Amino acid sequence: MPRSATVFACSACGHQSPKWHGRCPGCGEWNTLVEEARPAVSARAGGSGNGARSSTARALKPVPLAEVQAPAVARLSTGIGELDRVLGGGLVPGSLALIGGSPGIGKSTLTSAALGNLAGSGHRVLYVSGEESAAQVKLRAERLGGHALKVPIVAETDLEAVLATLETERPDVCVIDSVQVLYDPALTGAPGSVGQVREVAGRIMRVAKELGIATLLVGHVTKEGSLAGPRVLEHLVDCVLSFEGERERTYRTLRALKNRFGSTNEVGVFEMVERGLVEVEDASERFVTEATRAPGSVVLCAMEGSRPLLVEVQALVAPSELVPPRRVANGVDRNRLALVLAVLARHGGVGLGTSDVFVSVAGGVRVDEPGADLAIALALASAAKGIELTQDKPLAAFGELGLTGELRHVAHADRRLAEAAKFGLDAVVRPGQGATTLRDALRGATKARAA
Ligand SMILES: Nc1ncnc2c1ncn2[C@@H]1O[C@H](COP(=O)(O)OP(=O)(O)OP(=O)(O)O)[C@@H](O)[C@H]1O
Ligand SMILES: [Mg+2]
Repeated sequence: MPRSATVFACSACGHQSPKWHGRCPGCGEWNTLVEEARPAVSARAGGSGNGARSSTARALKPVPLAEVQAPAVARLSTGIGELDRVLGGGLVPGSLALIGGSPGIGKSTLTSAALGNLAGSGHRVLYVSGEESAAQVKLRAERLGGHALKVPIVAETDLEAVLATLETERPDVCVIDSVQVLYDPALTGAPGSVGQVREVAGRIMRVAKELGIATLLVGHVTKEGSLAGPRVLEHLVDCVLSFEGERERTYRTLRALKNRFGSTNEVGVFEMVERGLVEVEDASERFVTEATRAPGSVVLCAMEGSRPLLVEVQALVAPSELVPPRRVANGVDRNRLALVLAVLARHGGVGLGTSDVFVSVAGGVRVDEPGADLAIALALASAAKGIELTQDKPLAAFGELGLTGELRHVAHADRRLAEAAKFGLDAVVRPGQGATTLRDALRGATKARAA
């Protein structure tokens, strides 16, 4: 009987079985067996088993790092400043980046526009569309304008065909939209299954590294927000970019979750309009002018990577009938909100135990930094007491809250202040300047209003 080309391997203990089991016979975990291509016989020769080494393997000579040849490679600019910045200065030739995002967020739009710009600047590009027909992609390209129509496309889902195309075309940059729809005919798993995605990404990576093709893999995100398919995909690729935002809102943020060639702190802000995604270079200005100046609104001087960003934090406090009352956080971490509420109650004299509390960062932006604490606390206090903290200009704040009610310094205070000053926000409540505790800051905030 011919050996099947695949095995089922447990992702927890590595146990291999010729057929699928709901429960791993090796470790007893449920639902951990995934189909994998059976490794080629030659690769197995020196493998596990009895530990014998293949006689053909020859020992390698280690080279001191100082002598390793590493020619400085020029990065490829995608022509989209925000994307280049998040990538750490452009695409690295031969690198593999994964762009994840929920449906309809604009992954195809962003990658099409990037390829268009690259084609316009004379690079060889290729768009592999597995999800949409060539005609659909063309319609989008027409909407995007610019050089988007110059991009050559193949609409294909068979991995072998795609790899063969890559080998003949040898583009500088290639987009695979999306990695979940490609399938390897040698595996029986459905496209998008763990085994398929892993195999597809692995084989694309080998070809891309060999031929020096910078590859952007588009990936879907599950309902919970993690990348669909195995986490192993995230280990495999050089960069993991996450495209976030709410479909109904116009602002989208692109951030790096992992980047082997740059910082993971950078964030790009985009706005979705008719002709595609446009970069929002002066995001702060937008958010400040849009700030509502009502009770419960505070401008937070946040840092998004190396760049300061002013965003509006809004809070709503309403009497609750529920036990426990609602705590809804949009754009800030729920645990952070819980901490701020506890510190406010214990050290700020603002107890909200019987109220529903809603906090959101306007514009669909996410802030994940301790420096947001104080702005959240001020917004909550102002909402609870119905006091406007703004006069003609919104009140700005930043700082971390300690568990004992003290204000803690956060990084880049000068840059946050400079950004606030740029938009005429002179009243910035922050650690230092006589405010060492939350109470001081609350007092300072109301004084700033009176001044
Ligand atoms: N004519 C238009 N004007 C403005 N926005 C549009 C227009 N057509 C499409 N869009 C926006 O583009 C989005 C779809 O973009 P895109 O196809 O790039 O998303 P995607 O992330 O690739 O989605 P999927 O996961 O389905 O592939 C829509 O949600 C919509 O917001
Ligand atoms: Mg798409």
